[in-house]
Amino acid sequence: MNILAIESSCDETAAAVVANGRTVLSSVIASQVETHKIYGGVVPEIASRMHAEAICGVTQGALDEAALKLEDLDAIAVTNSPGLIGALLVGVNFAKGLALSKGLPLVPVHHLRGHIAANYIAYPQLEPPFLCLVVSGGHSHIIQAESYTKFKILGQTRDDAAGEAFDKAARSMGIPYPGGVHLDELAELGKDTAFTLPRPKVEGSPLDFSFSGLKTAVVNLIHNTKQKGGELPVNDICASFRRAVAEILTEKTLLAAEQTGATTVVLAGGVSANRRLRELMEQRCAERGLKLYFPPLNLCGDNAAMIASQGYYELLAGNTAQMNLNAYASKAIDA
Ligand code: KG4
Ligand code: ZN
Repeated sequence: MNILAIESSCDETAAAVVANGRTVLSSVIASQVETHKIYGGVVPEIASRMHAEAICGVTQGALDEAALKLEDLDAIAVTNSPGLIGALLVGVNFAKGLALSKGLPLVPVHHLRGHIAANYIAYPQLEPPFLCLVVSGGHSHIIQAESYTKFKILGQTRDDAAGEAFDKAARSMGIPYPGGVHLDELAELGKDTAFTLPRPKVEGSPLDFSFSGLKTAVVNLIHNTKQKGGELPVNDICASFRRAVAEILTEKTLLAAEQTGATTVVLAGGVSANRRLRELMEQRCAERGLKLYFPPLNLCGDNAAMIASQGYYELLAGNTAQMNLNAYASKAIDA
C-alpha cells in the first residue's frame, strides 16, 4: 500500500511516499531555515507563504523520486496538528485537493505520532507497546505507546519544551537559529562539568518536566559573565547545559520505565538528534537491560516519511477524514 504524505507544520515543506508504513520510496524536504535564520526564529506568516510556494514542486518531486503517479497511490496522509495554524492549513488543503481529485482516502496525522513512527521506518522489528520520550521544538512528553494509534501521556513539560530550551539558551549566547543543533556541536568542544546548573523538579509530578528554571539559570550565568567583562566560555556553557537537559530527560524516562515495567524505550523528535542525550540513554538503558531505539539523524527532524508511516497505521485503524478536515494548532497526542 503506497501512501503519499504531506508535512508543513513548521518550517519544512515535505512530501514522501512510503510503502506499507515501513519502506521509504521517496522523501523530499524543502527547508526554510535559511530564511527564518535572519529573524532568529520561525516567522509564521513567512512560513505559510513559503509552504504555499513549495508544496507543488516538493510533492511532484516525491512522486518522481518514487517513480510513481498519483494513480499508483492508495491514500493521502497529512499532518493536521499540532503546529503553526497557517502552515498546517497549506498542507491540509493541498492534501484535500489531491485526495478529492483521485478519490483517495484522506488520513490526518498528529505530528508527534509521526515523530514516533520515524522509528518504524528505521527498525522494521519495532512494534508497540513501548515507552517513548518525544522531544521536539514545541513538546516534551513521556508517552506510553499502547498500540500504533493509542497513546497515554505519562509526563509532559509544564513550561518550555526541551527543544525550545535549547534554542533559547543558544540565542542568549548569540548562537544562530536553529540553536539546538549548533549548541550540540559547540558542546562537543566544551567541559560539561564547568558549570553547575539546576535540575528543576515538578513537586508531586516526578514525570513532568520544567525547563524554565534551567533556562533562567543559564541566561543569568551568561549575563553575569558578560558584566564582569570576561570572555564568554560558550563551549563550556553549551556542554554544561546540554548535560543538564540530557540528564533530566534520561532520568525521568527511566523512572517512567521503572514505574510501568517497560522493556523498550524509544526516542523521537528533533531533540532526539542530540548527541549527549543519545549517549546517556544508551548507557543507562544498557545498565538496566532496556532495549533502546532512536531514529537515524535524517529522520529525527521534520519529514514527511514519518507522517506516511503513521498514516499507514491510522488508515488501518480506520482513522480517515472527510473533506471538512480542519487543522489544529494544538491537539493532544492521545485525543
Ligand atoms: O521535531 P522538530 O524538528 O520540530 C518540531 O516538531 O518542533 O524539533 C526541532 C527542535 C528545535 O528546537 C531544534 O533546536 C531541536 O529540535 N534540535 C536539537 C538538535 N537537533 C534539533 N536540540 C538539541 N540537539 C540537537 N542535536
Ligand atoms: Zn517535529
